[in-house]
Amino acid sequence: MQAKKYLITSALPYANGPIHFGHMVGAYLSADVYNRHRRLQGQESLFISGSDEHGVAIMLNAKKAGIPYQEYVDKWHKEHGEVFDKYGVKFDFFGQTSADYHAEETVKWFKVLHDKEYIGTQDSRQLYCNDCHNHLPDRFVEGTCYVCDYPDARGDECPNCGEFIEPAKLKNPVCKICSSQNIKEVSVTQYYLLLSKFHKEYREWFEAKKDSWRKTVWPFVDSLTKEGLHDRAITRDLDWGIDVPLPNTEGKKLYVWFDAPIGYVSNTKKYLEDSGSQEDYLKDWWQNEDVELSHFIGKDNIIFHTIIFPCMSMASGFAKAADKVPANQFLNLEGKQFSKSTGHYVDALDAVNEFGQDALRYYLLTILPETTDSSFSWDQFQAKVNNELANNIGNFLNRCLKFTQKNWSEGLPASCFAGFADSDEGKLISSELKEINEHLDQQNFRKGIEKVMALGNKANNYFSEQAPWALIKEDRDKAAIVLAQSSAYALCLGAAMAPFLPELSSKILNHFSGIITEDQVKRLYCGEVTVLDEVFANGHILSIPVDALVPKILDEVIASKKDVLKT
Ligand code: MF3
Ligand code: ZN
Repeated sequence: MQAKKYLITSALPYANGPIHFGHMVGAYLSADVYNRHRRLQGQESLFISGSDEHGVAIMLNAKKAGIPYQEYVDKWHKEHGEVFDKYGVKFDFFGQTSADYHAEETVKWFKVLHDKEYIGTQDSRQLYCNDCHNHLPDRFVEGTCYVCDYPDARGDECPNCGEFIEPAKLKNPVCKICSSQNIKEVSVTQYYLLLSKFHKEYREWFEAKKDSWRKTVWPFVDSLTKEGLHDRAITRDLDWGIDVPLPNTEGKKLYVWFDAPIGYVSNTKKYLEDSGSQEDYLKDWWQNEDVELSHFIGKDNIIFHTIIFPCMSMASGFAKAADKVPANQFLNLEGKQFSKSTGHYVDALDAVNEFGQDALRYYLLTILPETTDSSFSWDQFQAKVNNELANNIGNFLNRCLKFTQKNWSEGLPASCFAGFADSDEGKLISSELKEINEHLDQQNFRKGIEKVMALGNKANNYFSEQAPWALIKEDRDKAAIVLAQSSAYALCLGAAMAPFLPELSSKILNHFSGIITEDQVKRLYCGEVTVLDEVFANGHILSIPVDALVPKILDEVIASKKDVLKT
């Protein structure tokens, strides 16, 4: 079935620290490319994300910073919005899970799942600090791992052996709020999502995804869910989060991972309301079978997006489950994990301020960890930007546009453009554009950008081989035809690049503003090269100055970046 509308989500980033390249390539850049791609095809799409603002990790850091939780998350929410903006990641809506509209939606889901008996209570053993009088779920407690004896295991997980930790079993537990070791065990009733009851329905849905999901995703989830599903605690005793909407539950909040994915839905609702849309967020989007729903995430979020949230959606009846979950693998920095604390780190905001959106989007998109982990390297960044983007594409555009402006300031006549669409060149470009579309339809972003670069290469080679700077001396009319063909190439390149490098694309398209409409750009993007006959029906004059489109990165700049990492 051909979907009629596209609902695209990017993992809600925790409002708890800076966004780095790993986040960027995990869940945001590819989602943004996909959204732009669908719109260029003339399809209707919605691109939703927002801050994930609850949970113990955020509480601990807000306490450390000595500021109220709300103030803490608002600060990160604002900063993240700026970073995404600089990278051209353009959500339709970027909300906050601490907002009232989100609590309202989450409570609806909880109540329905509770009424349908997919939520029930179980008693659990928990830790409690006798000194600061706090319950100590998740990261509020650390101790020695009872599996591998690693001394700094957290209450939710052991970073050394990966064990999913039961806090009450930790050896030598320490309170992370006040550092006390005066900790007791208490028995507490918590609410559980009874996933075990939903196993059969879940597997029916999941098994149908076998052939279409990535090989890094489906088999992993299959092995986790084949035999059965585990019930999951979804409440905590905390003072930050959404209140459990039932009587006699004072002090209990919904666990961050229960409310966070509902953020996709609440943010859609809020977006439609704010923009004055007549559409219903559930009927027209979240429950609509003609909508293709894709969750863009990093691999650490697979379980929640392929098991827990789909079960919550189907069991409650509020939403359809995901059609696609194009999870990415991890990105390293010079072969090692990013680590803010050791300084093996690059600040994404500083980087984009220094190198600009085109250079970073380009490099990051070419190393998207779609099938295996990949690594950001400063040398490779420089090489790819300078050799591929600047030398290949930038150089072609500069030469072609400047040469035209200089020698045909009166414009190239229509006759020079005639027949391009039917020429071998034109046919080739059309099929290349269609192939790029297919890669993006399949969410193969690296293949897509590789194809765009190959198109740029062809344009560059064409220009070099035809050598219009020599030709003009012998036969000005012939040279004019070469320039017209090159301009047509440039325009096609501008369209093909649009989802990947929107800034560079619009700089290119600006040179054709006035002769090409938005609708014609879309038709061209889809491979309809005959549009060029309409566009160039009256020839083409370059009316704005042609500036260098892709600056090169200097050796000493890269050397200083590498030095920072070493120290
Ligand atoms: N905040 C989580 C993370 O950064 C992702 C949440 S995704 C959503 O790992 F499903 F909750 F939205
Ligand atoms: Zn304490």
